[in-house]
Amino acid sequence: MAPEASPHPARILVVGGGGRENALAWALTRSHGVEGVWVAPGNGGTEALPGCQPLAIAETDADALVDACHHHQIELVVVGPEAPLATGLADQLRAAGLSVFGPGADGARLEASKRWAKALMQEAGVPTAGYWWAGSEEQALAVLESEGRPLVVKADGLAAGKGVTVAETMDEARAAIGEIFAGRFGAEASLVLEERTEGPEVSVFALSDGRDLVLLPPAQDHKRIGEGDTGPNTGGMGAYAPAPLLDAEGLEQVRCQVLEPTLAALRRRGIDYRGVIYAGLMLTAEGPSVIEFNCRFGDPECETLMPLLGPELASVLLACARGQLAAGPRLSIAPLCSACVIAAAEGYPAAVRQGDAIHSTLQPNEHLQLFHAGSSRDSEGVCRTSGGRVLALVAQADDFDTAFARAYAGLEQVHFAGMTYRRDIGHQVRSR
Ligand code: AMP
Ligand code: GLY
Repeated sequence: MAPEASPHPARILVVGGGGRENALAWALTRSHGVEGVWVAPGNGGTEALPGCQPLAIAETDADALVDACHHHQIELVVVGPEAPLATGLADQLRAAGLSVFGPGADGARLEASKRWAKALMQEAGVPTAGYWWAGSEEQALAVLESEGRPLVVKADGLAAGKGVTVAETMDEARAAIGEIFAGRFGAEASLVLEERTEGPEVSVFALSDGRDLVLLPPAQDHKRIGEGDTGPNTGGMGAYAPAPLLDAEGLEQVRCQVLEPTLAALRRRGIDYRGVIYAGLMLTAEGPSVIEFNCRFGDPECETLMPLLGPELASVLLACARGQLAAGPRLSIAPLCSACVIAAAEGYPAAVRQGDAIHSTLQPNEHLQLFHAGSSRDSEGVCRTSGGRVLALVAQADDFDTAFARAYAGLEQVHFAGMTYRRDIGHQVRSR
């Protein structure tokens, strides 16, 4: 008889180089039975996380990642970003015999194609705004004119959060359609037009083994660059969890109306989805409505949520990767409030200044974490800014006021030239 596989992965590889991957790696080092975590490529902050080591391998270099997994005797690979998932990295790693947390290219279409995701939701009866698909500018304009009101315009494909226009006027909608077909999205560009829905937004993450689901506490992101939720959209300037917008009953409703039917529809298509299903939801007067699905953890929601998760995390992700969630341990979740504030580079989300030295006197503790996102080390080992979102300060407490006070106090202990952040993250749940 073959020996029984250990339920605890001792050696883990996290693929990706952002704040999300550092937070995942940090949380996994705290899990039962974990001896080491490698992060490829990681960033300037990776080696400062106890138990974590960066590996200079690009997230798209499947062959080098497979070799590194064999060399380091990796038992679990966790793929962070959507781009390598969409091009089949998880499939390539699985073909090499590795246990992988992250969907194959088939499941990643949930994020990579809005058209495909909308069709799947419609088939599954998942609440989402009505939509039209258009493969040419003429077709899109014809839908718009016949509807006679500004619809939401979404490029069909991975657009790094930059493919959506919530048009206020017909002219704005026409311009957004024109831009999608103007070349930036390639010769095969297509789009989805959507009915506009109203309500607060919240993100729900479900860990899946293809059959069963474990839901994490709901999180709320802050997408706009400016205080008071003004200015251009960003990847996310801060977050908090659990978002009181969705209580236990609301979360159950999301499980029953959104996540379970979606997973069932994936299975009907022959897709064995082993990874995170990220549901971006709008809480409308009629109930939750899916704005988008992603095939990865949100960033900065991931940084916010990881400190709340218990030491079973590595075993739970391994159980997902093996399709054995029901047999895995129960994931414990700390009953705390978690607050995350992003320190971005000057100019973000447009062109940013880079190369500034990052100074920190912060001592992380049980309830205060510093995760690097857009940073790298120079040849002298000095950590410098190298991206738009540079650092994530995360803190936990029994209440949100204290959690945010800790996160903002932590921010005063880090500095780089041009550091930019919002002072009102969590304004929805902080007393003023
Ligand atoms: P997405 O890139 O799909 O997350 O969309 C970016 C943002 O556009 C969302 O966070 C929403 O604020 C907004 N949005 C997307 N779809 C709709 C919709 N159907 N109605 C209103 N706002 C939307
Ligand atoms: N924070 C939003 C995202 O990760 O898409």
